[in-house]
Amino acid sequence: MKITNALLFCLAILCFSCKGEKKATQNNETPLLKAEKQLALLLQDAEKANRIPRTLDEEGNIHWTNPKFDWTEGFFPGSCWYLYEATQDDQWKLAAEKFQAFYEAHKYKTSNHDLGFIFNCSYGNGYRLTKNEAFKDIMTTAADSLLTRFNPNVGCIKSWDVDSGWQAERGWKFPVIVDNMMNLELLFKVSEFTSDPKYKEAAITHANTTIKNHFRDDNSSVHVVDYDPDTGAVRGKYTAQGYANESSWARGQAWGLYGFTVCYRFTKDKTYLEQAEKIAAYILNFEGTPKDGIPYWDYHAPNIPNEPRDVSAATITVSALLELNTYSDRDYMPAIDNIMTSLASDDYTAKIGENKHFVLKHSVGSIPHGNEIDVPLNYADYYYLEALNRYKNLK
Ligand code: GLY
Repeated sequence: MKITNALLFCLAILCFSCKGEKKATQNNETPLLKAEKQLALLLQDAEKANRIPRTLDEEGNIHWTNPKFDWTEGFFPGSCWYLYEATQDDQWKLAAEKFQAFYEAHKYKTSNHDLGFIFNCSYGNGYRLTKNEAFKDIMTTAADSLLTRFNPNVGCIKSWDVDSGWQAERGWKFPVIVDNMMNLELLFKVSEFTSDPKYKEAAITHANTTIKNHFRDDNSSVHVVDYDPDTGAVRGKYTAQGYANESSWARGQAWGLYGFTVCYRFTKDKTYLEQAEKIAAYILNFEGTPKDGIPYWDYHAPNIPNEPRDVSAATITVSALLELNTYSDRDYMPAIDNIMTSLASDDYTAKIGENKHFVLKHSVGSIPHGNEIDVPLNYADYYYLEALNRYKNLK
């Protein structure tokens, strides 16, 4: 951490702590303790159902992950790992180990790019906290599966297959979504484990191609770039989960910010630091975002202010900013403090026992698909817990 920023850090943390203490005198609880109590109830639900919670269904009941494969399956075990880190209570370690084992066999899946999300958020945190060698092997197998989707002509990992589902209806050949930046952390870690540079080299090539083709002049990102798999030429730029091809889907901006911050962590290449700073500037300077720092689901959604917010975008953003702040000359603490205070408020944090035991309210999965609109999401909770731990660890 920069010496020049150290004082600001401490002041900001104190500021957040003071706000937390004010809440504590009102509610007798810090945000982390409150999250732990709520997720202890969700854990009981998960134990009873023997399933991994994802969100709520249209009737307001818990919607569980699809046991065959679900891009969100790593987040609940990952949240358990963060609670283990925060509390050192073995119940969370046991829960993380139990629920991540449900999908261990998915490490062989080559039909999807989400293995980075899934295995890094769960087994990756597990390895960081326990140094269990078996977790390392599982992550390496998942990284090998993910690498099968890397096409050197394009210089990217393919996000979605296009032979079935709604993706088959879009006329795409090799779609790459900005979310895919989040799969690179697994590759960087596996290169470190194995001393084999091939994973890291693919990650770097993917990141460079993404900088070239996904970002507009104002540093916002399109959601989907479709490539010609034979020549690597860009066939078109689209959205899937945003409002329009030209709009800025809020979670996409957050994935880009997080992804390039991680690329800088592993490479120390200033290009990635600058890219993350530019994305942060786009997010934090966007005038249409309400003062509490929680964005609408798309920065250009047509009916703002009568549009759902996306708390998941805010949690990913704030967690990324907490890391970026340790590398950058810029001071992101005021923005971090604002978002963290908002997330901890009753506007976004559910009362214990409500919200079907998810911590945060008001996220959005995909409005164009009519899925998961204004609901809790397991990944909003995961990145919030990560951010709460990062705050705590700063001290
Ligand atoms: N593809 C991950 C997301 O919906 O953000």
